[in-house]
Amino acid sequence: MAMVSSRLVFLVSICTMVSQAIAQPDFLYHFCLDKGNYTSNSTYNRNLNQVLSSLSSNTEIDYGFYNFSYGKSPDKVYSLGLCRGDAKPDICRSCLNNTTNLLPRLCPNQKEAIGWHDYCMLRYSFRDIFNIMEDSPSFYMWNTNKVSGNLDQFNQDLRTLLDSKRVQAAAGGSLRKFAAGNATAPNNQTLYSLVQCTPDLSYQDCNDCLAGAFGNITQCCGGKQGGRVITPSCYFRFEFYLFYDAKADNASSPSLSPPPPLVPKLIMHHHHHCLHYHH
Ligand SMILES: *[C@@H]1O[C@H](CO)[C@@H](O)[C@H](O)[C@H]1NC(C)=O
Ligand SMILES: *[C@@H]1O[C@H](CO)[C@@H](O)[C@H](O)[C@H]1NC(C)=O
Ligand SMILES: *[C@@H]1O[C@H](CO)[C@@H](O)[C@H](O)[C@H]1NC(C)=O
Ligand SMILES: *[C@@H]1O[C@H](CO)[C@@H](O)[C@H](O)[C@H]1NC(C)=O
Ligand SMILES: *[C@@H]1O[C@H](CO)[C@@H](O)[C@H](O)[C@H]1NC(C)=O
Ligand SMILES: *[C@@H]1O[C@H](CO)[C@@H](O)[C@H](O)[C@H]1NC(C)=O
Ligand SMILES: *[C@@H]1O[C@H](CO)[C@@H](O)[C@H](O)[C@H]1NC(C)=O
Ligand SMILES: *[C@@H]1O[C@H](CO)[C@@H](O)[C@H](O)[C@H]1NC(C)=O
Ligand SMILES: *[C@@H]1O[C@H](CO)[C@@H](O)[C@H](O)[C@H]1NC(C)=O
Repeated sequence: MAMVSSRLVFLVSICTMVSQAIAQPDFLYHFCLDKGNYTSNSTYNRNLNQVLSSLSSNTEIDYGFYNFSYGKSPDKVYSLGLCRGDAKPDICRSCLNNTTNLLPRLCPNQKEAIGWHDYCMLRYSFRDIFNIMEDSPSFYMWNTNKVSGNLDQFNQDLRTLLDSKRVQAAAGGSLRKFAAGNATAPNNQTLYSLVQCTPDLSYQDCNDCLAGAFGNITQCCGGKQGGRVITPSCYFRFEFYLFYDAKADNASSPSLSPPPPLVPKLIMHHHHHCLHYHH
């Protein structure tokens, strides 16, 4: 794992309105959202198993985005699976297979749950989660090494890089909204970044989701050599080392229209629940 190979101690800070959140080694993080319970062997349980098995056994999808639902209301189950844009199909399938086994075990009888692995994200719910931008629950991770030298210049270089990746990712099609790339930071250091949205989002929603996540950089990883803000609909990561497959660097084609202006957004969060751990 890139995180381990960097030989750095990572701290993870989790701030969320969700009460039930447990650190788990196979996931970067997961949330069991207390939005309703199903009973074992119920119709909901069978529909969930059906959805998860379609997701983990699918061998046709090679663009890393899965959107499956099964059953009839009120027991219909919706799910989304998303692989990191640079993950090859076999890694993607293995990651999703693992997460479809893990998440229901970590969140037994919970109708809605979400978990993030380094290479994929899985969520399921009783409600339709397709085409909806959601920036909560979210979590942060940061590299504990501090940026040395000109911090203002670094922040500016980081923001310029991320903004250009945001525009590229948002302009991706309905199968893929991903961009990765590098830029030169002060002291001639190379800054690497990766941004991604679930590709069911519109250009505007992807753009807004990422812009909102960038707005958390100060809390997440201000002045640090690396960081991530991860939400259900989008996430970004940056580091001073190459942590993605550079062959996926070209990402999506450049947008023809100029980037829309960034509009500050108010995001509602309730009880903040923050915890830290050493990875
Ligand atoms: C679901 O079950 C858990 C544990 O049995 C309980 O604490 C929780 O209140 C239930 N949630 C809902 C929304 O019914
Ligand atoms: C669910 O079904 C399995 C096998 O069909 C059975 O072993 C188990 O006892 C059932 N659980 C409940 C809570 O009914
Ligand atoms: C994804 O889910 C939405 C809403 O549930 C549905 O309209 C759409 O057809 C699904 N797309 C695929 C590829 O399954
Ligand atoms: C899935 O789990 C297996 C067994 O634990 C592991 O070897 C494999 O690396 C995992 N896949 C991914 C993509 O993490
Ligand atoms: C999926 O995971 C299960 C349980 O971990 C394992 O038995 C199965 O071989 C895996 N399937 C694939 C295609 O990796
Ligand atoms: C940095 O990005 C450029 C394209 O902007 C690419 O040509 C170059 O190979 C990348 N460098 C590294 C080290 O990934
Ligand atoms: C910056 O780094 C590049 C390659 O990493 C090197 O070619 C170049 O000479 C360096 N520039 C300075 C001013 O150190
Ligand atoms: C790179 O760009 C080419 C041409 O635009 C495209 O066909 C290819 O799929 C892209 N590669 C990736 C990994 O996105
Ligand atoms: C991210 O920033 C927004 C807006 O300032 C804030 O409401 C939200 O709580 C932050 N997210 C986290 C996970 O702290």
